[in-house]
Amino acid sequence: MTVAGITSVQKEGRVFRPPKGFQKRAHIKSMVTYEKMYRQAYRNPGGFWAKAAKELVWFKPWSKALVWNAPDAKWFVGGKLNVSYNCLDRHLSTWRRNKAAIVWEGEPGDQRTLTYQQLYHEVIRFACVLKSLGVKPGDRVAIYLPMIPEAAIAMLACARIGAPHSVVFGGFSAQALKDRILDAGATCVITSDGGYRRGGIVPLKVNVDESLKGVSIVRHVLVVRRTGTPVSMAPGRDVWLHERIVELAARGKFSCRAEELDSEHPLFILYTSGTTGKPKGIYHSTGGYLTQVSLTCKWIFDLKDEDTFWCTADIGWVTGHSYVVYGPLANGATTFMYEGAPNHPGPDRFWDMIDRHRINIFYTAPTAIRAFIKWGDDHPKKHDLSSLRLLGTVGEPINPEAWMWYHRVIGGGRCPIVDTWWQTETGAILISPLPGATPTKPGSATRPFPGIVPDVVHKDGTVCKPNEGGYLVLKRPWPGMLRGIWGDPERYKKQYYGDFDGIYFTGDGARRDKDGYYWVMGRVDDVINVAGHRLGTAEIESALVLHESVAESAVVGRPDDLKGSAIVAFVTLKGGQTATPELKDQLKAHVGKEIGSIAKPDDIRFTDALPKTRSGKIMRRLLRELATQGEVRGDTTTLEDFSVLEKLRSEEE
Ligand code: WTA
Repeated sequence: MTVAGITSVQKEGRVFRPPKGFQKRAHIKSMVTYEKMYRQAYRNPGGFWAKAAKELVWFKPWSKALVWNAPDAKWFVGGKLNVSYNCLDRHLSTWRRNKAAIVWEGEPGDQRTLTYQQLYHEVIRFACVLKSLGVKPGDRVAIYLPMIPEAAIAMLACARIGAPHSVVFGGFSAQALKDRILDAGATCVITSDGGYRRGGIVPLKVNVDESLKGVSIVRHVLVVRRTGTPVSMAPGRDVWLHERIVELAARGKFSCRAEELDSEHPLFILYTSGTTGKPKGIYHSTGGYLTQVSLTCKWIFDLKDEDTFWCTADIGWVTGHSYVVYGPLANGATTFMYEGAPNHPGPDRFWDMIDRHRINIFYTAPTAIRAFIKWGDDHPKKHDLSSLRLLGTVGEPINPEAWMWYHRVIGGGRCPIVDTWWQTETGAILISPLPGATPTKPGSATRPFPGIVPDVVHKDGTVCKPNEGGYLVLKRPWPGMLRGIWGDPERYKKQYYGDFDGIYFTGDGARRDKDGYYWVMGRVDDVINVAGHRLGTAEIESALVLHESVAESAVVGRPDDLKGSAIVAFVTLKGGQTATPELKDQLKAHVGKEIGSIAKPDDIRFTDALPKTRSGKIMRRLLRELATQGEVRGDTTTLEDFSVLEKLRSEEE
């Protein structure tokens, strides 16, 4: 862990107050209200969250809001509920029955709208199909789908029958999918014949077939027809969704009661990168997760019944889980989903859709914003973006200039921006403005949500002074927090509660200014953020050494204007191997195959040796400096062999 560079971050003095018109209609209208709620929640966190939980429908009330034995939390103990019931059934007895739940657009331009009633019907049928395949409460189901309505339907169907889902991003390779299927012990995989991306077709079913070679635990693969691409169907194992629906329909009416699940029942597992080569299966609960996702979605996005909310994240990431599917639907809102790339058929695709669908709230990542800036202002300017009233960002620190562009060009100077800080592990947003209340400062995620108690501390746990850089920690449990790492309780303890006693360490560096605003600087561990995707350097290293010609590798991030971080891999070759440009290309392709295209190194540097400490640890910090500044300025006293640095320098391209 290192906090080098954190204190040097620029001072940003601009402050933007919520526009009066926005404020007047907002759920939370003033800082006085926020401060009061924050104080109340600080004094009585159980009471604050219990009030939010009461907005949901419970089959059985809980007896205690929180039981906390650090690092294990239980929220709404003894309560029983169902997430799919809360996202669907309860809206059917209201006027929302015929309101659009999902408005969807495919990359080729095809469209679908599902009302709450229709979505409910689809989920029931899907859940019946899963049951017919033998899926039972507690069984894990892997979902490997493009951004089509069936992705949300599949998640809700799993939630309905109490089968934790493990969504794997469609951009991940067959190998990455296999690792995740095995780790979660999934017995069923849901996929499609393909999905549209940048004018081409992603061969999802082919990847699934590849991933299941030698895997015996998966009993069934359920295939959704999307592209019409011919695929091979393994007899007895593979089932077309539409065919099974016809078969079941012939047997009678579809009906599927929502399982009454314990508040702590695992809703989903989602793999994310950590500091070791093995991705972590973060798992989340039912009651606590839905409570926090639902309330943060309502207040932070100031969600109203008449809004169309577009969170651009793929459901393969936590943002897609919490703010494409569960948060908006729990609130009875209209969520917009888009299948494809932001620049297909042209760089104005997003603005065209915002214009045509009259999107009101738009939530995306800084890396996307930087790409839009690069593509030029003409593209958004061609379209009428006046429907927008609120903008959001997530996934990495946003540089103030990108924030200003977003505010000016996309928001027309009238939309507040919510810069939301959170993680796969936190389940829901923890630090963010409340748009009708909080004055914003470009680049700051501002203040913690009521009930959340972050701090910035030194390595020894003492609190940092205002503006002093340190480690971002969370001092209290929160309802949406992860309940553990699937199959590895020790790793959970060590990873998150091993550095500070009873306190959660986020892995991020931050500073807090004199107004109590948080400025998150990014990861201080071996996790890098590439185009908004979270990757472990160790994961990429593990993939590289799987290649027959690689002896050892060290991967670091280098700041990149567009992607946040670019991936630089230092590679030593096995004896007899020659460093050639062709081999670099081969290695990049190899990483693409092992993990997915998002993890392909931007730069591969061959070297005779890697800088190591006397205890044999690779000194990534030196490599980072080398990759970033072209030289090493920091402390090298623990370096074992100084000639390595000389060689690395001379090998630079
Ligand atoms: C980073 C995404 C600065 C941070 C929801 C965190 C951010 C990691 C912000 C989690 C933000 C997320 N400002 N940094 N507003 N939001 N991050 O698990 O480094 O994919 O630890 O969850 O993204 O990434 P993850």
